[in-house]
Amino acid sequence: MPELASIVLAAGQGKRMRSARPKPLHRLCGKPLLSHVLAALRPLGPQPQVVVIGVGAEQVQAETSEPDVAWAVQEEQLGTGHAAACAREVLCGFTGDLLVTCADIPLVRTATWEHVLREHRESGAAATIVTALFDDPTGYGRVLRNAEGLVQRIVEESDCDEATRAVREGNVSLYAFQAPVLWAALETLMSGPPATAQGEYYLTDVVEVLVREGQKVIAVVAEEQEVMGINDRLQLAQAERIMRKRLNRRAMLEFGVTLVDPDHTYLGPDVTIGQDTVIYPGAVVQGNTHIGPNCLIGPHVFLEDSEIGEGSEIRHGSVVRDSVVGRRVTIGPFAHIRDHSSLGEGTRVGGGEVVRSRLGARVNDLHFSYLGDATVGDGANIGAGAITCNYDGQRKNPTIIEDGAFIGSDACLIAPVTIGRDAYVAAGSVITKDVPPEALAIGRARQENREGWARKMRK
Ligand code: UD1
Ligand code: CA
Repeated sequence: MPELASIVLAAGQGKRMRSARPKPLHRLCGKPLLSHVLAALRPLGPQPQVVVIGVGAEQVQAETSEPDVAWAVQEEQLGTGHAAACAREVLCGFTGDLLVTCADIPLVRTATWEHVLREHRESGAAATIVTALFDDPTGYGRVLRNAEGLVQRIVEESDCDEATRAVREGNVSLYAFQAPVLWAALETLMSGPPATAQGEYYLTDVVEVLVREGQKVIAVVAEEQEVMGINDRLQLAQAERIMRKRLNRRAMLEFGVTLVDPDHTYLGPDVTIGQDTVIYPGAVVQGNTHIGPNCLIGPHVFLEDSEIGEGSEIRHGSVVRDSVVGRRVTIGPFAHIRDHSSLGEGTRVGGGEVVRSRLGARVNDLHFSYLGDATVGDGANIGAGAITCNYDGQRKNPTIIEDGAFIGSDACLIAPVTIGRDAYVAAGSVITKDVPPEALAIGRARQENREGWARKMRK
């Protein structure tokens, strides 16, 4: 079996997006377009996976978390043919098969790539292009075939006459090439005049070069929906809808999840969900989030890069980011758990905020509290409105609340401070000193009642 490598073209400006953000970084179901493309190719094992970058190169590199990407830079955007040629140096000496595509074609499945590669190898073609029959082929290069149905060339929309414009078969920018064939064809192409006055060379013109040389070029026809390109925000929204449907279908049919309203549930492609979990409308679950079985995810909940243990309930309007939630935990409504927090088994957090904090098991923290940089032991109780004062204007300081401690309502714990095991903090206290285990700490003005004061005042 010849070796396999891939090239993803991602150097263009993406003008039609009307965006300051490089197009490869626009998100589909919470994940950058480029990452979708790389993820679909990865299971085929291409080595290396080259990405050609140019406009916004540093940003694209910085925001792409996929491992093992080999970057190639296209300094000047001189078209897709020129961009592909820019990958040659990184692939120097590579003579196997090359899968080539663009960062703006995010819906392609691995199975389709496998099919394309199989056809390419079994037919012994020098090049394999992928096409689709579009209801409306506007924007796609048109695929011209001869009387025997063999592909002759691809004509870009801007170069179409009326007859070619009427062709519904579009080039979708998925290709397989024998690497030496592609390099030679690009050399031939780029020794001639460019396709546009701006000096661009089109990768699509390689087809005509190869056909002229008598090389074998075949076409694989794919589903229109799966191979759409994203050039503007309208297409981005269309693709989002298609991807969302696909992911929600998988959640229901493969994971065994109840989506109360799949038209209004937003799951990311890397999310996994356990059986019999129920998700209410408006929930957004993205990034590397893994939800256990038998959970309840309430309406308008936002979960990102988090783990939710079995049987937990995240109620209405809550946000959990970069955190780990244990089993049978309840959160919310309207809670905010973030920045590497963890909640132990059976813990309950009401509508408060938990930041960089570790809560043990069976902690009750039910009413609008704030825990920042805190470590809370098993079975502790955090009263309504109690807060850690973790920030002194310069530093974030830690608070330790040991097992079984009881923090009264509206207490302020000025960090750094430790509340000992099973200790009590009286409601309304401002705690500035450590509290020993099993002690009661009261830090507030003593109450004074003045009998008859109000009556005298009114007179
Ligand atoms: C391209 C194809 C067209 C096909 C369509 C499918 C060409 C000339 N046209 O058109 O036949 O129907 O895709 O979606 O190939 N890029 C670079 N460097 C450049 C120019 C572009 O890296 O100098 C990258 C872009 O970042 C993008 C991709 O190539 O990811 C395609 O460019 P785009 O301008 O979107 O091409 P289309 O007009 O969609
Ligand atoms: Ca495109």
